[in-house]
Parts: sequence; C-alpha cells; structure tokens
Amino acid sequence: MTESNNTGSDNSAGYADSGADIGVTIAGVRFRNPVIAASGTFGFGSEYSGLIDVSQLGGICTKGLTFTPRQGNKGMRLWETASGLLNSIGLENSGVPFFIENELPKMKQLGPVIIANISGEMAQDYISGAVLLNNSPVDMVELNISCPNVKAGGMAFGLDPGTAAALVAAVRRVCSKKPLIVKLSPNAPSLTSVALACVKAGADALSLVNTIKAMAIDTEKRKPVFENISAGLSGPAIKPIALRMVWELYGSIKNMDSNVPIIGIGGISTVQDALEFLMAGAAAIQVGTATFAHPAAMTDIIGGIRQYVKTNNMKSVSQISIRE
Ligand SMILES: Cc1cc2nc3c(=O)[nH]c(=O)nc-3n(C[C@H](O)[C@H](O)[C@H](O)COP(=O)(O)O)c2cc1C
Repeated sequence: MTESNNTGSDNSAGYADSGADIGVTIAGVRFRNPVIAASGTFGFGSEYSGLIDVSQLGGICTKGLTFTPRQGNKGMRLWETASGLLNSIGLENSGVPFFIENELPKMKQLGPVIIANISGEMAQDYISGAVLLNNSPVDMVELNISCPNVKAGGMAFGLDPGTAAALVAAVRRVCSKKPLIVKLSPNAPSLTSVALACVKAGADALSLVNTIKAMAIDTEKRKPVFENISAGLSGPAIKPIALRMVWELYGSIKNMDSNVPIIGIGGISTVQDALEFLMAGAAAIQVGTATFAHPAAMTDIIGGIRQYVKTNNMKSVSQISIRE
C-alpha cells in the first residue's frame, strides 16, 4: 500500500478534529483548506446544504456569470462517457446584477471563500461584470477564458496569449480590489504561453483546466449528440491530462522566478487525485464532476488531506510536494 492510499477517504468526520492545519493562502486570501467547488458544478453552494456540510469547504466558485442573463444552449446538455461527462450548458445564468443582489448574500452566510466566476461574449461583458463584482463582497474573481460551450467569446479569449493578456489587463484595471484568478483552457495550442501572458497582464493566480473540447454521436439518430457538435469533457477521464498541464505550468512559472499560485482542476475525485495535483505544484484544487456522483467527494478529500498531513508530520499543505 502506498503512502497516499493510507490516507483513506471514508471517514472525513473522524479527521475533522485531528488538529492538522491545512489552511492555504492564495493571492492574500486565506482558505481553511485547499478544496474548492468548481464553477458550474455546485450552483451557489446552498443547493448542496442538505447533502453535505458546505461550511467545511475551502471555497466555492459560482456558476459562470455573464453581465446579462443567458438562457444557455438548446438540445442535449449532459452526456455521460466512459469515466467522464460531456456538457454543453452554454453558461445559463441570471446575470451578475441578479447574483449580487439575490445569491451573494446567501453565499456569504455559508462560510467558505466566495469566488465569482465570470464569462462573456465580448471583452466589455467581462469588464461590466468585473466593475460590479469589484464593489461587491465576493472574495475573489475567476475569469473564465476557457468555456468551450459558447459560440462567441468564452474559450476564444483563452486560446491566444495576446488576446488573453489584453482581456486580463482590461479586467485588472476595473477589478483593483479583488484578487484575479484566470481559468485556463486545455484547448489552447500552448497553455503555458497563455498562462505566462496572463501573469504578465496582472493575474494573481491561475486555475486549470476547464473542460476539453470533445464530442459524441447518437448512433440511433445518426447525429452528433450536441447542437453545437462539440461539448466539454470533464471527470476522471481528463485527470492525467490536467495533471500533466499543472506540472508543466508549475515548472515554467518556477523558471520565471514567479510564485503565482496554481489551482489544479480536472477529474479530481479522491484524496489520491488531490494529493497528485498538490505534488505537481498546485496550491489548491477544485472538484467538479465528482460531486455529481458523490456529493461528499470534497469533504472526504478534505479529511484525507488532513490525515495525510498529520500522518506525515507535515506543518502545512505546502509540504505536500514531490520528493527531490
Ligand atoms: C456541468 C458543468 C458546468 C460547468 N460550468 C462551468 C462554468 O460555468 N464556468 C467555468 O469556468 N467552468 C465550468 N465548468 C468546468 C468545471 O468548473 C471544471 O473546470 C471542469 O469540469 C473540470 O473539472 P472536473 O473534471 O472536476 O469536473 C463546468 C463543468 C461542468 C461539468
């Protein structure tokens, strides 16, 4: 049995008082632990209150918000694949102003760090949303330049270093009071080039990855499943790819003598997965698809990380690293 298998994940309640401090600080914001609910998979948090103790989480990313409300995509929106999930939601949401007035006050009661995830079709959509969020009580803003499910904007901003940097700089100017996380696309020809351009343009942290562009065909109908043909793949199927991307980006950031924190995302379902991302260089992790199948996935992972830190006599989560 390996070290990390020893951590177990079936008894998070038992770990709760084990005393190990697993808090992390990202861009000046303190999280009680490094486990964050990924955007689009956890609503605004209170939807899960009947299933888990939401207050235990390190943070919650909101569903992707656009300045004006969006209906989302027509047709099929979710399709299960081997060890994964395809989605084509198309950023259905009620808009940033509605969020600030109606959802945010409830979210603030929950306890975890609140991260507003924003998206847009044009740069001005992002900027208008960021202006409002800058003066709201959200703790951080996550700029989604990686959504593959919208016809205009979204991922298009995250494929090219120059385009991404211009957007980050424009949002940075109007979002001076909130730490800015930029969420990167695994579909970029060079994720690392985009990431480094975003750091130069003012990103305080980077999160990766969003979903991987993929598709499915309905063999009864003999047609692509999704109206947009392609959709975004998430879940365990993408974990090794996401892990490799975090590893490579962490190396590049270190070579730049930068210490911009990375938040690892992609198929994380167990404490073993989470530890791998932390060892690859992530300062924190987000969990998305796993929560659908197992609502307690995140609280189990939190308990497992706490146990791992304790068992290995570590002083902090930052000591979970590759052995040199
Ligand atoms: C149903 C669904 C909706 C999503 N909506 C968003 C979104 O609104 N904004 C965003 O940045 N990412 C969104 N994502 C991407 C996730 O936040 C995450 O980056 C991705 O699913 C990979 O993590 P996972 O494998 O743990 O799910 C969505 C993912 C799923 C499955």
